[in-house]
Amino acid sequence: MLKTLIQNAEIITMNKSDDIVYGDILVEDDRITAIGTLGDIPVDKIIDARRKTVLPGFVQTHIHLCQTLFRGRADDLELLDWLKLRIWPLEAAHDSDSIYYSAMLGIGELIQSGTTTIVDMETVHHTDHAFQAIEQSGIRAVSGKVMMDYGDDVPSGLLENTSDSLDESVQLLEKWHNRANGRIQYAFCPRFVVSCTEDLLVQVRDLSNQYHVHVHTHASENRGEIALVEAQRGMRNVVYLNHLGLANERLILAHCIWLDDEEKEIIRTRGVKVTHCPGSNLKLASGIAEIPQLLDAHCHVGLGADGAPCNNNLDMFQEMRLCALIQKPIYGPTAMNARTVLRMATMGGAEIIGQEDTIGSIEVGKKADIIMLDLNDFHVYPSFDVDPISRVVYSATRSDVVMTMVDGKVLMEDRRLHTVDKDI
Ligand code: GUN
Ligand code: FE
Repeated sequence: MLKTLIQNAEIITMNKSDDIVYGDILVEDDRITAIGTLGDIPVDKIIDARRKTVLPGFVQTHIHLCQTLFRGRADDLELLDWLKLRIWPLEAAHDSDSIYYSAMLGIGELIQSGTTTIVDMETVHHTDHAFQAIEQSGIRAVSGKVMMDYGDDVPSGLLENTSDSLDESVQLLEKWHNRANGRIQYAFCPRFVVSCTEDLLVQVRDLSNQYHVHVHTHASENRGEIALVEAQRGMRNVVYLNHLGLANERLILAHCIWLDDEEKEIIRTRGVKVTHCPGSNLKLASGIAEIPQLLDAHCHVGLGADGAPCNNNLDMFQEMRLCALIQKPIYGPTAMNARTVLRMATMGGAEIIGQEDTIGSIEVGKKADIIMLDLNDFHVYPSFDVDPISRVVYSATRSDVVMTMVDGKVLMEDRRLHTVDKDI
């Protein structure tokens, strides 16, 4: 058993009481086994955390790793044109190598900026290679192949027939679900209502029930998309998904900007999960989601960067800051306080994927998905009398991350981290 002691840290636990404690964390293999003043106990490795801040790794609940290579290709277009003119032709041109490197590039950036878990959506083909990158990198992920069996604008290289889409998804699920010590999970990913036949969506519902896996899709992101759903299916997005029996606690909906009262009520009563992507919603001119309202109604809301094209980077610090700032002119200065936002970025994300007993906070018994920040640089210093959570949300940047640990393994450390290996 490998024992690692993280010593003398400021620990933002994100536990139920929002405790911030000063002390040590013992990690045995993949788990946190003790927190407190642990003294001089025998371990294999000591990580010196003096003057460092430790917190749970970020959980991003909506990412497209396959789009990392298309970074920046989203200027000045709205969703439907952007998909048709930029994204779909590029996704259709992917091969297995380009998917792998796109995923690795994205994962490298995520790990470096403190994200330890992602809910990811790939493209139609070559998803096996994205899973290989996920497995090799060590990041925690819920991912799946995108499903698209409908739509005049979908290029022939992406348009699938219904049974191939389902068969390939099930093959990937059987290969990857619960692999790598449970670090990798599969989710069905019908892209959005307007790229899927009703037949596909109904079969996805049955498969998700059969295998107990999530369904990850986009919904109510853009007014043009909503009008198209209504024209095609005679109902609003979430009402339609509910009508098909898909609205349950395993359904993860990215965006949910333009919900009417009936849709909000379905989300609330059925326990549907929502992912907020503020950077993407601004850049694609999609709108500002009513997140304070959803949170007040006790809906589950996570946070994600979406793909690199519609955000230019996958940095959770930027998403947290935008998440807080864009609501304040609408709902007032106390809306979306720093604690609420950091909760969305950690425990909130864990709840989206039903892993709230496994990740999302620093507590004994949980997986050791931990990040360490060095908040001594000019842009944060000298704000030490400021609430540590506020410091992380409003002042910290990705360059402050000095270590990222997933499942007890250090995936990234830089020269500001001091480690003593007791074998030497
Ligand atoms: N809706 C359907 N596909 C996509 C996508 O790739 N990105 C975003 N932001 N919205 C979508
Ligand atoms: Fe997306």
